[in-house]
Amino acid sequence: MAITPPPERVWWNIPIARTEITWIVIAFAWGLLMFSAMIYWHIEGEQNLSNESYRTTPAAFSEKANAMVEQYQVREEAGMPVVHPPPGSDVYMIARLWQWWPILEFEKDQTYRLHLSSMDWQHGFSLQPVNINLQVHPNYDMVVTLTPNESGEFGVVCNEFCGIGHHNMIGKIYVTE
Ligand code: CUA
Repeated sequence: MAITPPPERVWWNIPIARTEITWIVIAFAWGLLMFSAMIYWHIEGEQNLSNESYRTTPAAFSEKANAMVEQYQVREEAGMPVVHPPPGSDVYMIARLWQWWPILEFEKDQTYRLHLSSMDWQHGFSLQPVNINLQVHPNYDMVVTLTPNESGEFGVVCNEFCGIGHHNMIGKIYVTE
């Protein structure tokens, strides 16, 4: 308790107790270990994505997304275009109040550059059930290079609270064999 002044006024000259210095060393070593784990999992694990980000504007981004939809739309689901872009291409998904637009269709084991940006304010891209999470901001083009390794239907859920329709902001990505 430090209610009363320390008996020795020049307390910093008192040598550190053995147990205290031991704990300081343990805590420091643990911190270093946890820090290197971040780097290790980025390189060896499959958890942290190597994403890039660039400046853009909502107008410029939606222009690219619209051009992609116009060129590669294959069908429609409840008014939402389903787009099947060619493997290796740049693919765009718009986040806005309150939808992910359009629905994307990828081919398994093919690589795509997925661009994400927001038309209004912050949204969160959460790919289910694989649990990939990315923040999506207006004026930033977030690019993820991805190669789907399983086919099926994946959900895109918004995981940043963005207003009254947040819980309805659900998108879809198909991966075909
Ligand atoms: Cu978009 Cu929550």
